[in-house]
Amino acid sequence: MSEPKKLYIKTYGCQMNVYDSERMSEALGGQGYVETQSPEDADMILLNTCHIREKAAEKVYSELGRFKGLKAEKPDLKIGVAGCVAQAEGEEIMRRQPLVDLVVGPQSYHRLPELEAKARAGEKALDTDFPEEDKFEKLKNRPKAKRGPTAFLTVQEGCDKFCAFCVVPYTRGAEVSRPADRILREAQDLVERGVREITLLGQNVNAYHGAGPNGDMTLAGLIWELNKIDGLERIRFTTSHPNDMTDDLIEAHGTCEKLMPYLHLPVQSGSDKILKRMNRSHTAESYLHLIERIREARPDILMSGDFIVGFPEETEEDFQATLDLVEQVRYGYAYSFKYSTRPGTPAAERPQVDPQEADDRLQRLQALITRHQREVQDAMVGRTVNVLFEKPGRLPGQMVGKSEYLHAVHVSGGELSAGDLRPVRITASGANSLAGALL
Ligand code: SAH
Ligand code: SF4
Ligand code: F3S
Repeated sequence: MSEPKKLYIKTYGCQMNVYDSERMSEALGGQGYVETQSPEDADMILLNTCHIREKAAEKVYSELGRFKGLKAEKPDLKIGVAGCVAQAEGEEIMRRQPLVDLVVGPQSYHRLPELEAKARAGEKALDTDFPEEDKFEKLKNRPKAKRGPTAFLTVQEGCDKFCAFCVVPYTRGAEVSRPADRILREAQDLVERGVREITLLGQNVNAYHGAGPNGDMTLAGLIWELNKIDGLERIRFTTSHPNDMTDDLIEAHGTCEKLMPYLHLPVQSGSDKILKRMNRSHTAESYLHLIERIREARPDILMSGDFIVGFPEETEEDFQATLDLVEQVRYGYAYSFKYSTRPGTPAAERPQVDPQEADDRLQRLQALITRHQREVQDAMVGRTVNVLFEKPGRLPGQMVGKSEYLHAVHVSGGELSAGDLRPVRITASGANSLAGALL
């Protein structure tokens, strides 16, 4: 038998890219590839890219430049670009960086075997279509390998919301939900391979409306079906849009035993003027009211969110409204970004905020968020949480896992293995994680 070819994949961007990289690795597994952790060993290098902010997209070209030497030493090495930069820039990538042999958009991964063969034959291979067929169904030739205790599962892709700053509707295309039976089969398979926690993924996951046995199913409906799978202990989902937080989903947070008390619900700004210009179609007040209802259903839920500062025409007053909203919500986690102009999006045409002013606002927002994050985390000390252990920690005999609130928890001593779910008493709160002892 011939030596297997080696594949090096580097993943940027969101969790959906992490899931997609696993699928691409499996698709190329069928072509005789095994994954390697070092680009020097690789016969094929794939960068799975992100286009969300300018920095993310530029990183791809500097990374590609670093492969020049490798390609000179090893002319058979094939270099591919996948993901959202591939979709947004297509052929332009090959023009700008002639090292690239293959460009594949997020909706065409099931065609990777053909594209790889074309690249091997010395041709340039490009596919950035939005084909009709279900790429995940075509990507099913997975080996039944054992898995770690947590996994991502994409249930919905694309977005029809067209927020004025965002490239996702262009790079990922229109919103599409996968049929429920396929998701449930995939979940069952993951559980049989050792997975105990599944995070359902979608750019707009709570807009899920996949075909079920009795018409379309909501995300809550899907979660209740997953809740029945023996051996699956935890369910999470991300990322949600405030306008798609339906009553049944809010209620599930109070009643569904396996649904974890953590919700990522980006708001982007606390100013109604800016929200309107962002085309978010919710107000600060409607968002706060929504959180009130979610907390009524599940009082201990940990909220997380995303913010953009320095959106075109944001004034100091608008920014203050964002700080006020953050004060009211007190996020357990929040991610904030300086607005990045994305060519082709409506906001790119609007008057831009002075970059230094935007930097200053970002720092002030991050300081506030960090303080709240720390307070929320510190308040866990003395409480008992359930930890799903994932891997050994840095110290000998130590294991790390996640609490139901997604805090990392370190525990030393005890006969723990990855996949164990155990009650832990929290004894200390550090910079980015908690420490505790088994009960
Ligand atoms: N679908 C999700 C997240 C999309 S991208 C949602 O609707 O919330 C993740 C985050 O990146 C966004 O929530 C937003 O905060 C940020 N983001 C998107 N486009 C951006 C841009 N042009 N500049 C800066 N941040 C951006
Ligand atoms: Fe982008 Fe808005 Fe869609 Fe989220 S909801 S992916 S921010 S367009
Ligand atoms: Fe980036 Fe595409 Fe995800 S732009 S955030 S990788 S959907």
